Amino acid sequence: MIIAANLKTNLTRKETKKYINEVDAYITSCNSSQEVLVFPAMSSLDTYKSSVVVGAQNAYPTDNGAFTGEIGLTHLNEFDIKTILIGHSERRHILGETQEELVKKFNYFKELGFKIVYCVGEPLEKREAGKDVMMEYISTQYEGIDTQYENLIIAYEPVWAIGTGLTPTLDDIKDIHKELKDKSSAPLLYGGSVKVANAKEVLSIENVDGVLVGSAALCAEDFCKMIEFA
Ligand code: G3P
Repeated sequence: MIIAANLKTNLTRKETKKYINEVDAYITSCNSSQEVLVFPAMSSLDTYKSSVVVGAQNAYPTDNGAFTGEIGLTHLNEFDIKTILIGHSERRHILGETQEELVKKFNYFKELGFKIVYCVGEPLEKREAGKDVMMEYISTQYEGIDTQYENLIIAYEPVWAIGTGLTPTLDDIKDIHKELKDKSSAPLLYGGSVKVANAKEVLSIENVDGVLVGSAALCAEDFCKMIEFA
């Protein structure tokens, strides 16, 4: 199983260091064989522990150059970062990243052999419009993406379930994961209001290969419990 924490714009460097130390101590103590990924804020990308894969929440598809506010490959290389999150709904919907831009980013980091966690998921109005509309919408997020890429992980995160406490039913997750597995055999994570109280059930669903957790992963103890459930 793959258990991933997206810390978003949370936790200071000091807090992140403590967090990763705690997660590392847990993994080491129970000799866990789960794949644990943590995406901290950019300012904490140097927080290294061998039991935890630290990834970038974003980067610009460039070595370096005039891209104010962005970091490029040179900066990721400084911390030996080889894992990146692409297509998160907050980047699509708040930062306005288009599918075209995401494909460019995807291809750039694919060429470099990065592990890519690529996120897809529908907003509420698409879900409410019925399954066909919803699946059609999600299909557009696969356009231009090499679904056979060997270092690809896909995360299905319904936009309306992110940070809201709402989740699809277990049957809905099962159903959509089955459809998404037909598009790509890459490991498929579920994300959106996963917490200690529901992680065990979510992880037991067919075709769920792990979880991508936001708010509930900010507490190291809770995140470790989810690793335990895996
Ligand atoms: O990337 C993880 C995420 O968007 C889910 O957030 O807070 O609903 O677990 P949350």
